[in-house]
Amino acid sequence: MQIIVRDNPQQVAEVAAALIRAQVLRKPETVLGLATGSTPVPLYDALVRLHSAGEADMSRITTYNLDEYVGLAPDHDQSYHYFMWEKLFYGIGVDPGQVHLPSGIAEDLDAECLRYEESIQAAGGIDLQVLGIGLNGHIGFNEPGDTFSNRTCVAELTESTIQANRRFFDSEDQVPRRALTMGIRTIFQSREILLIACGAAKAGIIAQTVHGPIISQVPASVLQLHPNARLLLDKEAAAEL
Ligand code: F6R
Repeated sequence: MQIIVRDNPQQVAEVAAALIRAQVLRKPETVLGLATGSTPVPLYDALVRLHSAGEADMSRITTYNLDEYVGLAPDHDQSYHYFMWEKLFYGIGVDPGQVHLPSGIAEDLDAECLRYEESIQAAGGIDLQVLGIGLNGHIGFNEPGDTFSNRTCVAELTESTIQANRRFFDSEDQVPRRALTMGIRTIFQSREILLIACGAAKAGIIAQTVHGPIISQVPASVLQLHPNARLLLDKEAAAEL
């Protein structure tokens, strides 16, 4: 794993945006894997700024998001569909036909997982996958204890993740308990991985991810085995390395 540390989240976002810009310059038809959550928001702002300044042409990329909540329609303001359009897609001129998220309202969720997985494979796999990390080490919604060999699947969210997501909803009972998520295996097959983490709360799990044993109790620890994984951290998240 390559580790890059910057002073603050803004600098982290600028490095991440520069890496994505370089990737898209090298390969305009890049297949980009994307994450939601609070961590990538400054990155998405930076990409929108680059696009507005005419410095990044994203018109030919294809995107696949990591996950979506079960039960939330795309126009629900806490759905990941909604989040991605608001934070990134409207601002960077992507082709709407090339944007992919799993459907949390599919009638047959297992069939939807299979369809999503096949769509990623048909696109040639993911060139660069952006990840955040949960306080418990989850990536996507692959929670501690889930097998490393999972492909896109329906995940039961842990209590820790439900509590972490609580801040986005009016009350705890509105927080979805399940999500569709790319599996660890799907994520691991990406040609490059860029995991971003900022803030003191992530320092402990980042140390376990980098220096701890490779175990399913810390899903992100599998990235130690990836040939092309980068961790991009601010000083606070890197404090225990
Ligand atoms: C989001 C996702 C999650 C988040 C993680 C960190 O698509 O897959 O794994 O990356 O929960 O979330 P934040 O960035 O809000 O700390």
